Amino acid sequence: MSKTIIISNRLPVQLQISDGGLSAIPSVGGLATGMKSVHSGGESLWIGWSGLTDEEIPESLENEIDKALENHGCSKVRLTENDVEGFYFGFSNRTIWPLFHYFLEYSEFELDFWNTYKVVNQKFADAILEQAGDEDIIWVHDYQLMLVPQMVKEKRPNTSIGFFLHIPFPSYEIFRTLPWREEVLQGLLGSDLIGFHTYDYERHFLSSVRRLLGLDVSFNDIYLDNRVIKVDSFPMGIDYKKFRDAAVAHEERKENNKSDLQQKLDNHKASAPDTKLILSIDRLDYSKGIAKRLNAFEYFLNKYPEYKEKVRLIILAVPSRSNVPQYQLLKREIDELVGRINGELSTVNWTPIWYFYRSLPFENLIDLYTSSDIAWLTPLRDGMNLVAKEYVATRTDKTGVLILSEMAGSAYEMNEALLINPNNFEQQADTLKNAITMPKEEQMARNMFLQKRLERYNVEVWANEFMNALHKKSDVEDVNISR
Ligand code: ADP
Ligand code: F6P
Repeated sequence: MSKTIIISNRLPVQLQISDGGLSAIPSVGGLATGMKSVHSGGESLWIGWSGLTDEEIPESLENEIDKALENHGCSKVRLTENDVEGFYFGFSNRTIWPLFHYFLEYSEFELDFWNTYKVVNQKFADAILEQAGDEDIIWVHDYQLMLVPQMVKEKRPNTSIGFFLHIPFPSYEIFRTLPWREEVLQGLLGSDLIGFHTYDYERHFLSSVRRLLGLDVSFNDIYLDNRVIKVDSFPMGIDYKKFRDAAVAHEERKENNKSDLQQKLDNHKASAPDTKLILSIDRLDYSKGIAKRLNAFEYFLNKYPEYKEKVRLIILAVPSRSNVPQYQLLKREIDELVGRINGELSTVNWTPIWYFYRSLPFENLIDLYTSSDIAWLTPLRDGMNLVAKEYVATRTDKTGVLILSEMAGSAYEMNEALLINPNNFEQQADTLKNAITMPKEEQMARNMFLQKRLERYNVEVWANEFMNALHKKSDVEDVNISR
């Protein structure tokens, strides 16, 4: 029987060695949290990097590591410290990530990074070729592995290969600045189906293929040699039921079973019942617009000083890619901004911003989602943004206001949210005021539509639609499509 092989850099768990022992912590990020639900059906194998470099793995733990991953239905690709430096911190996160998020000035075009990216993509391709049977379906994920489809297709021309990009695909004008642009496109074109979160990313990709490779593109089909490659948009959903059930369980939890964080949030509500909690959750990443959000919050408090002591902003930032200089600078900038704003505006009774820099267990995420009156998410550019969807899913009584950046892929499907331009402070200040004063009936009416949509287009439907499109594609090819 054929199985699905999922391939991504990040596995659903990250292995760590501490005090000589091995531990597995859940990975953060849309790809890992979303695909985890798809993978939990138990019918797939997930190949990726364990989070440990060869240099960190003592021989004595080798078997234990394989077993630990096997327990999660995973298998590892071995990477050296040098690989991780050039491939992950280098080409993936110092070249492609900034470029595809329109931070052209942060993008570094280093030949060494590119060479290591090729070597490591080949390692992932070899792992697939070693472990996949001829009938298996290969599903490659994200910008770290854009050369893998071609590397596998060359060796296994009849295998069905799908690729999904979890980040934006930029406009042709941005993409064409990449020195290795043709190679990247050719790498992707080893796939039979290429998926994006939105129609815009899909159009940008097709335009680059047409203009840079001169290929024949008709609607969303690309003609290459004797193959037809399908390109389509599949907006990723969340595991709606998981978030919904967790919120219901959270509501029913007895007082003595509450987490410390929930108790603190409850105490806060009891001591200041009129204070609105505004929540933002992101990986600490410049694409998420955290620094601008802090400045916009200060602007709001200065424009509407009547809300001083009446609102509190909770910023939860999860550490991310801390070896990359831009992320280190951003961390410093945010620490300073939070310190300055709190220093200038705090009173004896009130600290405007609560700032947490850590990854939190799932239970605490639910505490925060369910306790916050407003979720304020302001990415400057974001492939999707699942946090927006998770917040809405946990609002069991349908109250709560989502303020969401137009620059997030999720904004295309969440029209009932208050959509903002993260660069427009005036608009954000007014929108915050609107959110704080929005009548409950309006909140509920907006969330009712949003929840229905999230429930219907959940992550399972997303994965099935992608897989069905890939299957349909192979069926048609059996009848030999050619132009
Ligand atoms: P990205 O993929 O760019 O990180 P998304 O919003 O799409 O952004 O996905 C982030 C995922 O990571 C969500 O599923 C969210 O629940 C999870 N997450 C974000 N911050 C934290 C945190 N501090 N602790 C635990 N999980 C987090
Ligand atoms: O969901 C988008 C995404 O970019 C994933 O590709 C990535 O795994 C995740 O965010 C988090 O980044 P990282 O894997 O570098 O921690």
